[in-house]
Amino acid sequence: MAFREYKIGCYMFGFALSFSMFVTIFLPGVDISSVSSTELALDKQLTYGHESGFAYEDPFLQGHGKPVKVVLSKDPATGASIDKTTAYVFPAGTPFPSGLTHTKILGEDVKLLSESLGKIDQASEEAGAVFLVQTNDKDVPYVENATATRGWNSDAVLKAADETIMAGAGKTMFVREGCWWCHTLLPEQTQDWQSFGRPPLLGDFNGESPTTFGSDRKAPDLLHVGARNSSKEWMTLHFFNPRLVQPHSIMPRYDYLWGEKDASGNTIDLAKWDEEYMAYTHGESIYPPEVPEYSADSEARYLIDFILNLK
Ligand code: HEC
Repeated sequence: MAFREYKIGCYMFGFALSFSMFVTIFLPGVDISSVSSTELALDKQLTYGHESGFAYEDPFLQGHGKPVKVVLSKDPATGASIDKTTAYVFPAGTPFPSGLTHTKILGEDVKLLSESLGKIDQASEEAGAVFLVQTNDKDVPYVENATATRGWNSDAVLKAADETIMAGAGKTMFVREGCWWCHTLLPEQTQDWQSFGRPPLLGDFNGESPTTFGSDRKAPDLLHVGARNSSKEWMTLHFFNPRLVQPHSIMPRYDYLWGEKDASGNTIDLAKWDEEYMAYTHGESIYPPEVPEYSADSEARYLIDFILNLK
């Protein structure tokens, strides 16, 4: 019987499978752990905070325990005016991102600077802290613990902020709502960049988990969506009901993220809204019903802050 050919085939198959597993599983591990965080990776880690997947601090994915990104134009400690500065506020008890708690994620040079110039080893989760992303004269990015270097504490910074961006909590909404079933956050190294912008670099993902690359693309890539559409009004209409602005969109409605009350404290009646909207789609009224303004602590606000922060 001709077992010999069968045996050779088995060896060949075994070799091909092991080699491909080696390339897929082992090599990326070596590569990724040797790459330093880029400035973008530091921004993402400090914006999103600790893991925004199924984290034990927030098992029901409500967006709890996340930092707040703020824009400042005056020094919260002295009140003096300063150049527009982005700071990342971790109120007391907010878990730090893995770049600050695991030794290898920042990369050797970034870590050295973050400790020597940035004093990150003096930051404490229990007391809360405020961070900045800086670069040295050789363009190496690092994290500055502004609580230690400038005496900025989280309450004072939140009070002094011109703008607060809840993008950390918003990323949890993005994960929970499954936006990544249709959207990618990964323009590829193909003609993709012409419509969706610059593909990411390896070091852009240090410390980010999950990356929400997306599993399949049925809709536009969103990695730089905030750079091509920064309209809060458009996002408000589109998330409430995508058909208000894109008549044939297959994107689901996210009107339930508005919660029970709108920005002025009025109860939102989704059933009544639907009725009026159906009348509009049947041509019985000329205008669609007004979309309620979302309140400052609604999930809709978190999600829209996250989307507009994707630049
Ligand atoms: C069933 C697939 C599907 C899901 C799920 C989905 N979308 Fe979409 N989305 C689309 C399609 C298709 C478009 C393009 C048509 C349109 O604008 O509605 C789109 C458009 C968008 C746009 C505008 C993109 C641009 O280039 O201007 C944004 C922003 C967006 N979606 C965000 C989200 C977010 C956030 C979620 C999760 C809460 C989500 N989408 C869930 C299919 C989907």
